[in-house]
Amino acid sequence: MAQRIAILTGGGDAPGLNAAIRAIGRRSLAAGDSLFGIRNGWAGMIGEGDVMHLDRSKLSGILQLGGTMLGSSRVNPMKLEHGIDEVMRNIERLHLDALVAIGGDDTLSVAARLAEQRARVVGVPKTMDNDLSITEYCIGFDSAVSVVTEALDRLHTTATSHHRVMVCEVMGRDTGWVAVMGGLAGGADMIIIPEFSVTVDEVVGHLEVRTRAGSDFSIIVVAEGVEMEGLQSKDAAEGARDAFGHVQLSRRGVGENLARIIEERTGHETRATVLGHVQRGGSPTAYDRIWATRVGAKAYELVVEGLFGEMPVVTNGTVDVASIADVVAEQRRVPRELYELAQIFY
Ligand code: F6P
Repeated sequence: MAQRIAILTGGGDAPGLNAAIRAIGRRSLAAGDSLFGIRNGWAGMIGEGDVMHLDRSKLSGILQLGGTMLGSSRVNPMKLEHGIDEVMRNIERLHLDALVAIGGDDTLSVAARLAEQRARVVGVPKTMDNDLSITEYCIGFDSAVSVVTEALDRLHTTATSHHRVMVCEVMGRDTGWVAVMGGLAGGADMIIIPEFSVTVDEVVGHLEVRTRAGSDFSIIVVAEGVEMEGLQSKDAAEGARDAFGHVQLSRRGVGENLARIIEERTGHETRATVLGHVQRGGSPTAYDRIWATRVGAKAYELVVEGLFGEMPVVTNGTVDVASIADVVAEQRRVPRELYELAQIFY
């Protein structure tokens, strides 16, 4: 039976979102559904709503494009007075049979809340931070790791030429997945992530060991969210916050501060590079295109089967299904085993 289906993308954008929109949309149109795109995440479901009609031509030529053709925002209906009621009203007003929400823990927490109220919502996992629980795959993570890997390759050649320490700050609010995987692939000489604390003294000590062992350059990868004893990063509370209450971590200046202290303490010339939103921009990798297509297609199946409050996840290399509430219940953190694997190469 033909249905009225809407898709939205919320939170930080990530390469692969358009591939997922295309997969959900193409399956939906093939079934004769009426298909809608909600503009700018949950913002498009507040007030009068902001909705566009999607047809086959709008879904054409987007597979390889980064960002999201629907736009995104960090607007959180749970923080707005009557926000959830407004979303529920818009679902009714638009006569939606299903809403597919593509996002990370913030966007999906809203979806979980809506599902509690019996809204016909399905989720899709997206976050370049890769920290949703249960799923091994989140849209955008592989593309981000590729950017970090290429950056580290480039930093290596200039670091060796000038015999410098290079500090590379990467995204990662609460977890260090991008740092540890990018650092492993790019041969980092030290990786600093929120899961395993190190002090400035330990960083300096490690660099001295490397120097004594004959290395005249070093590459340090640091996740923007780390708290380090001995590092004066700007107080998180000073920074601007988004609607989900998150501080803009890039303003804390972790990479810059660490580079300055290393230079002062070791006398070794040191430079900082902040990769920032470069990690989230541009075309998705082949891996992100393929898996975003697979989880997108599965999300449409969940809609057809009426499995609301659920979402596709990847476990043991195959597409599986989990409840949205379970996926957002906790964060997946980097295991000690991976962190220690990286340390072998320090
Ligand atoms: O939520 C993912 C993320 O990429 C974080 O790692 C980062 O701190 C944040 O988004 C930055 O997002 P923005 O500057 O778009 O608010």
